[in-house]
Formats: sequence, structure tokens, C-alpha cells
Amino acid sequence: MSNWQSVADVNDVPEGGTLVVDGGSHPVCLYNLGGEIFATHDTCSHGQASLGDGFIVDDCEIECPLHQGTFDIRTGKAKALPCKVDIASYPVKIEAGKVFIQI
Ligand code: FES
Repeated sequence: MSNWQSVADVNDVPEGGTLVVDGGSHPVCLYNLGGEIFATHDTCSHGQASLGDGFIVDDCEIECPLHQGTFDIRTGKAKALPCKVDIASYPVKIEAGKVFIQI
């Protein structure tokens, strides 16, 4: 079942940066990679850290601000220890300047 939610204006997601939005039951982190928007669960799977406070590294990974584990922004896959458990990633579409995520 399709359940698209409008969560932000696309211009609010800085290029090369992040924006944390309300995903309903939990926060979601949006990323702007060269003008393309991606979305993952905002909470690190290793601890209670907001990935939106982290840094984008290697063009497509988010580095957790707490212990520097990383995830692939495009898939949510855990890439560097201490992160071992993947985080959810969500389909994104842009319509009329708004970011929609399917969650
Ligand atoms: S809380 Fe994210 S790496 Fe530990």
C-alpha cells in the first residue's frame, strides 16, 4: 500500500547536508547528494544518536556523530563498525517542490 507523506520543501535540504523531519512514529533524516534526495531512519542502530547531526563522508555515507560508524545513505546498509545493523531507508519522490517519503 502506498503511503506517501510530504515532509519538507526540497530547498530546505542543503546540498551535501541533512535535514531531520517528522516521520510520524520516529524521526527521519533527509540527505541531499548532488541534488538527489534520500531518506533513512534518523536514529543510529548502535545507540541513541541522530544521524542528522553526523557528517556525509565518501560521497554517499553518513557518519554517526557519536562513535563514527557509517551507513550507506542510499540503502541504509551498515558500512563501518561499530554499526552492524542496517537502518531503514525510504523511497523518496519530489512533487511541486515538496519532498515526499513512503513510510
Ligand atoms: S551511536 Fe552511532 S555509532 Fe554508536
